[in-house]
Amino acid sequence: MGVNGVPPDQGRRPAGNRRMLVAGALSAIGLLAAPALTAPADAAAGTLGAAAAQSGRYFGAAVAAGHLNDSTYVATWDREFNQVTAENEMKWTSTEPNRNQFTFGSADQIANHAFSKGMKVRGHTLVWHAQIPTWLNNLSATDLRAAMVNHINGVMGHYKGKIYSWDVVNEAFNDGGAVGTLRSSIWTQKLGNGFIEEAFRAARAADPAAKLCYNDYNIDDANASKTRGVYNMVKDFKARGVPIDCVGLQSHFGNPPANYQANIQQFADLGVDVQITELDIGGGGSTQADAYRRVTQACVNVPRCAGITVWGITDKWSWRSGDTPLLFDGN
Ligand code: XIL
Repeated sequence: MGVNGVPPDQGRRPAGNRRMLVAGALSAIGLLAAPALTAPADAAAGTLGAAAAQSGRYFGAAVAAGHLNDSTYVATWDREFNQVTAENEMKWTSTEPNRNQFTFGSADQIANHAFSKGMKVRGHTLVWHAQIPTWLNNLSATDLRAAMVNHINGVMGHYKGKIYSWDVVNEAFNDGGAVGTLRSSIWTQKLGNGFIEEAFRAARAADPAAKLCYNDYNIDDANASKTRGVYNMVKDFKARGVPIDCVGLQSHFGNPPANYQANIQQFADLGVDVQITELDIGGGGSTQADAYRRVTQACVNVPRCAGITVWGITDKWSWRSGDTPLLFDGN
């Protein structure tokens, strides 16, 4: 395609229409990395991860252990990406299905592959209302609090010193209601709204080397009430010394809002990194490619935007595969 001087025949990018998507993201990274991208001899910069690394960022993907026997899948992961998030394997149902019995088989498959390749690993996720085991349901508040801290210690302890960032709390804010309303869950019902702060404090103690993130969807628009609620929480945490290092914008959308970069900037201005953690964009063709370009450009334009993770490698295994939302098609 020759977008921004990227040669069309490097042999390192996907064939077919999806090439346009990767080129869209690459062209945005290329605005900072123009010298390497315009030098065909530097083939390594023609991958997403290498291009991102030129400004100290990463470009990663969510990976599922069940697909690791697919050599094309693994080859694409290894070639294009320098960060990984386990799509489901580090969630509570996977890591502690029974109380205090920790299992890391499939999580380790992904993490150890990534460590061996020098990739960053984002831990996802410690405290969430979904994909949690039923044994949590009938505990007293005291017991649930102990179980939460024990889970944080057990999972973070297993990977201590090796994880780049952890999604400590996932999706705690409500989609509707007044600014700052939390989603009703076992966590709010038994522990109250303070569970978020308690989780972050426990997480800092469990692995002081990991960046601690709050991660959510529909917080991409700078002015949305859900975004304002998360913003106020981060501001409050920073003011009171509650440990938090990053905000994860999941970014599952059809199109990034017009103020997406301003949103990244407003969180960065609070003194936290921003990570685009689960990017996928429904649609197709040049509209979709341009949306990928705009998201990537927005990250590149804000120094504290640390990197981008797309939520899967190939459309055929995307959680929303009907939207063909990823950079690579089924082939
Ligand atoms: C999704 C996975 O992609 C699916 O395989 C699983 O069935 C459900 O969870 N927000 C998150 C992710 O934080 O963990 C979710 O991942 C997608 C929405």
